[in-house]
Amino acid sequence: MASIKIAILTVSDRCSEDTKNDKSGPLLTTLCSDLSAFGMGVKGEVIYTGIVPDDISAITDYLVMWSDVYAMDVIFTIGGTGFSKRDVTPEATKKFIDKEAPGLSMGMFMTSITKTPMAMLSRAVCGIRNNTLIINLPGSCKAVVECFEAIKSVIPHAVDLIS
Ligand code: MTE
Repeated sequence: MASIKIAILTVSDRCSEDTKNDKSGPLLTTLCSDLSAFGMGVKGEVIYTGIVPDDISAITDYLVMWSDVYAMDVIFTIGGTGFSKRDVTPEATKKFIDKEAPGLSMGMFMTSITKTPMAMLSRAVCGIRNNTLIINLPGSCKAVVECFEAIKSVIPHAVDLIS
């Protein structure tokens, strides 16, 4: 595999009202586009980005389009994993995936908990739908960096296995 096709969905009422509020989406695009991000000579190509409010059907519409129609290798969602009433990204993801990938969520959690006890407040889910890996990340820039760093090295092999 020469490159990994990536889509990034920012899930946030605030960012969907004013896209300039979205700092985490552009940051993750930069992290994924770093030529050394995934190792093994594999390049990350961020092909689609989007911003939606915290709404299950709005999230699912993007997941369907990017997985079932555009066959992305990896979809990252950012935000909406916490405990507030509007946080529904894990519920949208669980409805959409065929298989859970708990090792990825655990890997992010084990790294995150060494950085902040607030990691316990993320309900992030990861899973597989057809040939696409879906990964929930918490919304802050700090969390995006920490969680991405925790799992990035296994993503090329994961994509190989599901494609
Ligand atoms: N994980 C890491 N690695 N670093 C963080 O700073 N923040 C936590 C948690 N996970 C954090 C983290 C906080 S404060 C919250 S409320 C939850 O993620 C949920 O965030 P979300 O609702 O933006 O998805």
